[in-house]
Amino acid sequence: MSGDPTVSGQGPESPGRRRLINWFLGTSFGALLASIVYPLARFMDPPEVAEAATNQVDAGPINDPELREKGFKIVPFGNDPVILVRVGDEYRALGATCTHLNCTVEFRSELQLLWCNCHNGRFDLNGQVAGGPPPKPLRIYDVHRVEEPGRPTTLVIEKV
Ligand code: FES
Repeated sequence: MSGDPTVSGQGPESPGRRRLINWFLGTSFGALLASIVYPLARFMDPPEVAEAATNQVDAGPINDPELREKGFKIVPFGNDPVILVRVGDEYRALGATCTHLNCTVEFRSELQLLWCNCHNGRFDLNGQVAGGPPPKPLRIYDVHRVEEPGRPTTLVIEKV
């Protein structure tokens, strides 16, 4: 066995090597911390989305396959998407953003309810809270049928 610490690899390290290792570990930890904190900060404070400049949006044709098959569709409306629901021959439009923690609601036709799958929030078709943690009702919108000769009937959603 040798008494030379540099040969055995267990002796004292040089200050320069130690500083390099400390710097490397410090920057790695900093990068790890930044990769965790930055996305969390962006999630907590998302960028502003402009309020819709208009009071109404075209929701597309009344015979939209998505609307016919699922019974609902999500329509972009500025920073507050709207859920358009078909109930028989009637159409309803409500804010699609859950009033609890801003998840997007969906229509459960078998329950005739709007349902938020984040925490099992439920709203009736008038937007009133029907169960779960949401503190406030959903916003209501008007739905108009637009019929023009020679063109398919379309639906227009309008702020009340
Ligand atoms: S976000 Fe909808 S119930 Fe919690």
